[in-house]
Amino acid sequence: MAIREIRNEQDEILRKKSREVEVVDDKIRELLNDMVDTMHKYNGVGLAAVQVGVLKRVIVIDLYDDKGIYKLVNPVIVKEKGEQECEEGCLSFPNKYAQVVRPMEVTVEALDENGKKIKVKGKGLLAQALSHEIDHLNGVLFVDKMLPGTMQYVEPEK
Ligand code: NI
Repeated sequence: MAIREIRNEQDEILRKKSREVEVVDDKIRELLNDMVDTMHKYNGVGLAAVQVGVLKRVIVIDLYDDKGIYKLVNPVIVKEKGEQECEEGCLSFPNKYAQVVRPMEVTVEALDENGKKIKVKGKGLLAQALSHEIDHLNGVLFVDKMLPGTMQYVEPEK
């Protein structure tokens, strides 16, 4: 387990498309665990591998609720329903927040950390997080989708 360095908004890697994972092996499981540690250290609700400099289609999400941690490999949104306008941030954009429109519900197909096919249905915040993290895998950032004029900089608490 290790904390990895998070790439920030100036890093061009964030604009690159991540590649599919062919085999979910120990290296991928180590990446997933490091990503969870890194997300927790910075109090994030989600992280994509590209944000730690790895161009693989791997994401983690933790809403700090009873659903636990999601570790998803090759996630694909297969169904979307409705819309929600939400406030959103990103660990690559520290202290910045904006309003974004996301689907209200999504169904995602992915592989779990053992390479088994799974389906995740998310509503509300989970749908938002899945949509945000899967966008990262395609080089899409929340600032691309933000409603104009809604970007806010919030001073970090000391
Ligand atoms: Ni993000």
